[in-house]
Amino acid sequence: MRLQTVTWQEVESYLEGSKGVIIPIGSTEQHGPTGFVGTDAICPETIAKGVMEETGAMIAPTLSIGMAQHHMAFTGTITFRPTTLIAVIRDVVESLHRHGFERFFFLNGHGGNIATSDAAFSEIYANFSLGVSGTDRSPPRCTMVNWFDGPDIETLSEELYGEANGAHATAAEVSLTYYAYPEDGARIARNSKLEPEIAPWGPIRDADDYRRRFPDGRIGSDPTLASVADGKRLYDTAVSEVSRRYRDFLAED
Ligand code: NI
Repeated sequence: MRLQTVTWQEVESYLEGSKGVIIPIGSTEQHGPTGFVGTDAICPETIAKGVMEETGAMIAPTLSIGMAQHHMAFTGTITFRPTTLIAVIRDVVESLHRHGFERFFFLNGHGGNIATSDAAFSEIYANFSLGVSGTDRSPPRCTMVNWFDGPDIETLSEELYGEANGAHATAAEVSLTYYAYPEDGARIARNSKLEPEIAPWGPIRDADDYRRRFPDGRIGSDPTLASVADGKRLYDTAVSEVSRRYRDFLAED
């Protein structure tokens, strides 16, 4: 079920059978010369739809803006500062918790969200521990799963691209978005190689420092290797792996 296309009575009925919800979370940020600005939101949203079909999970609206301050020197990027994202995650979880949801599975597409989401989960647990959110309900439990770092998807990404997958604007994530939006992918995809073919690696700090170290936006990747056919394989693998991890999360003590 997609929360956006069911009635409130259908949400009530769903809650009689499951307390779980999947919340895709991403970012709106540059992804190099051949990747969509929406890459990090499109990937988890696309995979979540497949997981919904496989597990019957409720899918919440995608949180498509994340913590992306380091990409702000590239046009089109939108960022929440960490404190804003913490507040957004808290309000989303506490809204759904009030309705009876208890297991919050964030399916993440952006490495820059991880530390902030961990802090948000601690805030949510602190509110419960301190009695701020009321102790008459079952406690909320949150987890964040990155679609790109499960063992199966890592094995496939390595098999397809080896070292050239990289860390940002990866060949794998660009493939997945081309699979989801093939016409836009065909418009952007370049036949010629980027220079250098594999982008540099380095630390991530502020936006201007990032642009100086990584002039075209990529880190460690050669996304010209991306293809729709690879995207389909990555999609199938991610749906199956994330479905397993979602079921495990619901079954936890
Ligand atoms: Ni990305």
